[in-house]
Amino acid sequence: MTWAIRRAERRDVPEILRIEETQFPEPWTRGMLIDEMSDVATRRYTVAVEEGVILGYLGVMFVLDELHVNTLGTAPAHEGRGVATALLTEAFADAGERRIARATLEVAASNTRAQRLYHRFGFAPVGVRRRYYERTGEDALIMWADLAGTSTAGPTLAP
Ligand SMILES: CC(C)(COP(=O)(O)OP(=O)(O)OC[C@H]1O[C@@H](n2cnc3c(N)ncnc32)[C@H](O)[C@@H]1OP(=O)(O)O)[C@@H](O)C(=O)NCCC(=O)NCCS
Repeated sequence: MTWAIRRAERRDVPEILRIEETQFPEPWTRGMLIDEMSDVATRRYTVAVEEGVILGYLGVMFVLDELHVNTLGTAPAHEGRGVATALLTEAFADAGERRIARATLEVAASNTRAQRLYHRFGFAPVGVRRRYYERTGEDALIMWADLAGTSTAGPTLAP
């Protein structure tokens, strides 16, 4: 692995948005992303960087003892290299130190690749939000994971 993970900064916004716009049918706007990143009390945004290029990003939100995965994306040219796995592993290690007990997220019902990734981190589907995504009309799966005891976590092997 040749990249490093660091906290996202304002100067990273254009590159994060470029990835967001290629990877999501309903990408966040610049304003949404800046608002999110500015809320340092409850949000934690990280990027994976290789030779000055942002390969992927992760944004999480803390609500009481829960971590919410707000956004996660890897640049198409760098998918399959373990970038998202590394970003999640780093965030969950931090969550362990903050004594976060559980994690949740919504993911498009058709997005089996992301679901496999989340499954490896212990997420399981618990329900469906019908027509969650406005533009596509697609349902979202609600997934939860128990993080207790995962401060040294990496993904567990898929069965
Ligand atoms: C889902 C997404 C974040 C995954 O990012 P990624 O960086 O490619 O993820 P990883 O590389 O950590 O893991 C993905 C796959 O690569 C494999 N992989 C990981 N490291 C690898 C390596 N060094 N060599 C080869 N394969 C590897 C993993 O086993 C995994 O395999 P799978 O697809 O069969 O499950 C990315 O595809 C993406 O941005 N998708 C669009 C946006 C999205 O869906 N976001 C999440 C929804 S909220």
